Amino acid sequence: MLPRQHFTFIAAIAFLGAIGSIAAVGQNWAVLVAGSNGYFNYRHQSDVCHAYQILHKNGIPDSNIVVMMYDDIAKNPENPTKGIIINHLKGKDVYHDVPHDYTGNTVTPKNFINVLLGNKDAMNGVGSGKVLESGPDDNVFVFFTDHGATGLVAFPNDVLYAKDLNTTIAQMHSQHKYKEMVIYIESCESGSMLDGLLPDNINIYATTASNPDESSYACYYDSVRQTYLGDLYSVNWMEDSDAEDVTTETLFKQFQITRKKTTESHVMQYGNLTLGASSHVSEFQGANMLNKPQPMSPLTDRLNAMLKRDAVAVVDVRESILSRRLAALPVNSAERAAVESKLANTIQQRNAIAGTIDLIAKKSFEVNRANYYELVTSQRMKLTQHDCYKSVTQHMHEKCFDIQNEYVLNKLWIVANLCQIGLQDFIIKNAVNAVCEPLGRQTFEY
Ligand SMILES: *[C@@H]1O[C@H](CO)[C@@H](O)[C@H](O)[C@H]1NC(C)=O
Ligand SMILES: *[C@@H]1O[C@H](CO)[C@@H](O)[C@H](O)[C@H]1NC(C)=O
Repeated sequence: MLPRQHFTFIAAIAFLGAIGSIAAVGQNWAVLVAGSNGYFNYRHQSDVCHAYQILHKNGIPDSNIVVMMYDDIAKNPENPTKGIIINHLKGKDVYHDVPHDYTGNTVTPKNFINVLLGNKDAMNGVGSGKVLESGPDDNVFVFFTDHGATGLVAFPNDVLYAKDLNTTIAQMHSQHKYKEMVIYIESCESGSMLDGLLPDNINIYATTASNPDESSYACYYDSVRQTYLGDLYSVNWMEDSDAEDVTTETLFKQFQITRKKTTESHVMQYGNLTLGASSHVSEFQGANMLNKPQPMSPLTDRLNAMLKRDAVAVVDVRESILSRRLAALPVNSAERAAVESKLANTIQQRNAIAGTIDLIAKKSFEVNRANYYELVTSQRMKLTQHDCYKSVTQHMHEKCFDIQNEYVLNKLWIVANLCQIGLQDFIIKNAVNAVCEPLGRQTFEY
């Protein structure tokens, strides 16, 4: 038998050990962002609402989840089911209980960065003021869904550049804002937000909807709501989280399943892949032992198998929605004429934007003897000239049109190429002035 003092000593050690391990377990934090607005973009806010429901169901408290979304969908005049947002053709409402931390014009790249960095002072008086208050024992989950282009993702009134996100992430790491972090990004060319930027030694694992060069895809066209309900990569990872036991599923397995089901683009992974292979989904998306996962019904499975046929490249979404609306309208109706003219207008504006960017490329070579116009308009180069790209695209934003417009985003790789072949930013900006100043800053109505 052990002497009494000795026994107490061992018990005290065990007690302290337990406290130590409780403290080291850490908390879950999350930031969910939908970067668009407008009923045509229903799906991005729907994705974010669904993501919130997953984290909420898995026990992450609202105090630890920051939601940024414009919030113009639930009550949108075009929404036939007011106050309800769904993310699947047979889905339940995902809008209820979603925190309204940052809505409307507070959904900005600057506020997103301040939320990530935990800058409470900067966000004082803005929205709910909620920021990440995570520390070195905590895991952080970030999900962003919206339009994107080479080296940037869109917000309702502006864009976030890959280099600025990269800097923010590096600051979060050096300021010990997380133990491990997982980032999921849905957007066109989303790989370019991390490719060649995110290091493998800062405890981050990330996946993206597409590689740096290709579109991402909308899915689930709903003929009642007359819009796409989700995005392919987003619904694939979320339906997987809904169906799997996330306490045993690894992030890498979720990536594999999402990649297999996202048939139209290449789902990519970045950062520390070992972390992805060894960590469970629940370590970032939470786990509630009381909520058993709900395996997909055969009907859901069949619907999901049809996703491919339903998927449409993001840049074609507006035209696709209008064409589908048109097909559902009786010939010779007044409504039909209105939608027809809207569609014609949309196509005309898309062509005008492509024409403007093409002209900027042409003009950029007018003062140069070597003319690489053919080269820069025919193949995508990997973006490394981040500063030139940011300065030229911001100049275009000021002089030409909203660069977060999806038809502009779709052609920004040409601007990236102009920087990549070594043109100095002032030369390209002069070309921007020559093309856009005579036209004035254009706004597009859809
Ligand atoms: C991206 O961030 C990493 C640190 O996390 C840094 O080493 C790298 O230089 C950054 N890249 C750019 C282009 O800023
Ligand atoms: C990647 O993550 C694993 C698992 O957490 C860790 O053991 C490894 O040291 C990390 N690699 C780097 C380069 O940081």
